[in-house]
Amino acid sequence: MCGIIAYSGKGDAAILAFESLKKLEYRGYDSWGVAALLANGKKAFSVIKKVGKIGATNSEFVKQAIPEQNHMAIAHTRWATHGGVTEQNAHPHLDCRLTIAVVHNGIIENYQGIRNSLNTPGEAHEFKSQTDTEVIPHYIEHLMQKEGCDFLTAARKAAILIKGRSAFVALNSETGQMFAARKGAPLIVGIHENNSEEFFIASDLTAFLDHTNKVMYLDDNEGLSISNGKIDFFDIETGAPKQKRVVDIHWHGKANLEKEGYDHFLIKEIMEQKYTIAAAINQDDEKIQDVADAIKGAFGTFLVGCGTAGKVCMTGEYLFSKIAKKHVNSVVASEFSGYQHYLTPKTLVVAVSQSGETADVLEAIEIAKSKSAKIVSLLNVFGSTMMRVSDDFFITNAGAERAVVSTKATTAQLAVLSLLAYAAAGRLQEGKLLLMNAASSVNDMLNPRYEEHLKRLALILQDKKDIFIIGRGLNYPIALEAAIKLQETCNIHAQGFAGGELKHGPLALVGPDTPCIVLVANDDAKQDILNNASEVKARGGFIIGISPENDEVFDFWVKVPDAGNASPIVNIIPVQILAYNIALLLGRDPDYPRNLAKSVTVK
Ligand code: G6P
Repeated sequence: MCGIIAYSGKGDAAILAFESLKKLEYRGYDSWGVAALLANGKKAFSVIKKVGKIGATNSEFVKQAIPEQNHMAIAHTRWATHGGVTEQNAHPHLDCRLTIAVVHNGIIENYQGIRNSLNTPGEAHEFKSQTDTEVIPHYIEHLMQKEGCDFLTAARKAAILIKGRSAFVALNSETGQMFAARKGAPLIVGIHENNSEEFFIASDLTAFLDHTNKVMYLDDNEGLSISNGKIDFFDIETGAPKQKRVVDIHWHGKANLEKEGYDHFLIKEIMEQKYTIAAAINQDDEKIQDVADAIKGAFGTFLVGCGTAGKVCMTGEYLFSKIAKKHVNSVVASEFSGYQHYLTPKTLVVAVSQSGETADVLEAIEIAKSKSAKIVSLLNVFGSTMMRVSDDFFITNAGAERAVVSTKATTAQLAVLSLLAYAAAGRLQEGKLLLMNAASSVNDMLNPRYEEHLKRLALILQDKKDIFIIGRGLNYPIALEAAIKLQETCNIHAQGFAGGELKHGPLALVGPDTPCIVLVANDDAKQDILNNASEVKARGGFIIGISPENDEVFDFWVKVPDAGNASPIVNIIPVQILAYNIALLLGRDPDYPRNLAKSVTVK
């Protein structure tokens, strides 16, 4: 949530920071801003702040707004937490003297106390925003003016003082120094391949992969400073120097970060499922077997995730039950603390996360670690925080997912969890074969004719106020996931239910033409879910069957391959395409749903 980028080097800093910031737009898109440190001895900032998406602006605008030479800049794209979406609340924030500029990601829990402490009879600071962030530049200013601290010491003291998960970068126009601190929110440094004095600092390495793939990861409670082109790392609390290893990142195809001819990232990423499912199951068999054995042997396994990944965890619970006859628990990460009483050193937590940065999942991991439980993660982003704090991890190999709405990462996570369930049953090769067949069926499915069919359905559903989705067994969590897709992409009220639950309440909402999507698989729940569809139809509902075979209860049939236990993977794909096409008809931005962000780094 919120994206930070900072640049220091010989390049055109404002433009480089601005272009890199565009790659972080998925982290928040309420407003954005840049502060560039002017060169030629000016010792002053040029600042731009705008409400709206950065993607809507081109670099010509920045060139005109900051025509002067500058070699250091910080920039930020915002997802509002404290204070509305206004230019004043957009970052960077500055101190009273306009010599310290700060960009920040996360939450400062004790900001109110800091703000109060800065407004005493002997000292008044003029706050221009309602943000928590603004206390940082003012506190640094206070320490420099009143306590005689140098900039780097003052910034480090500010980093120590603030509470809550966050990361920030501060730039001083008088000394030309940059300071960055990581306290629970990601911060990654890129060093230019041919120039050891050129640095990027960002919330996510995708921001600077066009320029370098040599990176250094800050750990929690670590900071860095850049002075005269030299970078130093240190412990925030003690100031003691830290050595950092430079890592070469090659997993992330650069081309994967662009739309490649598609109108939106969302449809591009849906189409990439032609090959990402096969890539996801390309795992080390031995490691899959080891982790599956650990799940079997654990005294309690918890699958933990948020949002879509949470629905994947829930599907995992069914997969393990059905395939491996093993009970595992799925828990929404934000509720995990309620389960801490059951954790022991023999517990295994499997964290599922596309980004590897979601605050609630990180917190669940911290709780589990405090009880000495083991952590295995299923992640899409190599080098993410979760990867670094887990005992073991799998990368789901879906490649960079840029649309806020998760698609290819979801099916990749489902594929890896299915593999683990088969391995836990001692049937890994059978599971691999099943998933390979599902991957090739998805390849056949994702053709223009299929999309045309779903476009016809989009026309029927575009003006509906409510859409129900029902499923049973493996497809119950997928009904919940399908609802999320329609909610966020189309802003339609969509709700998923277990097929058997309708008659306990929700059926009262069904009237003439209420659309109900029915997820069917050729499994032992098939007849029951078709019966539930009939119950909806008998009350006037319009039944959309996503099913390998047609049935007389369907008013509209969307064919999916008969994928056996991989039915969750094939059944969600038509809903993804449907949601995309309804969004287009309604004029929504499929890549950037209102009010949301992709990487949720606040609790
Ligand atoms: C956000 C995204 C969702 C995602 C969830 C968890 O809400 O919009 O698509 O499922 O975060 O993210 P994670 O990176 O942990 O999978």
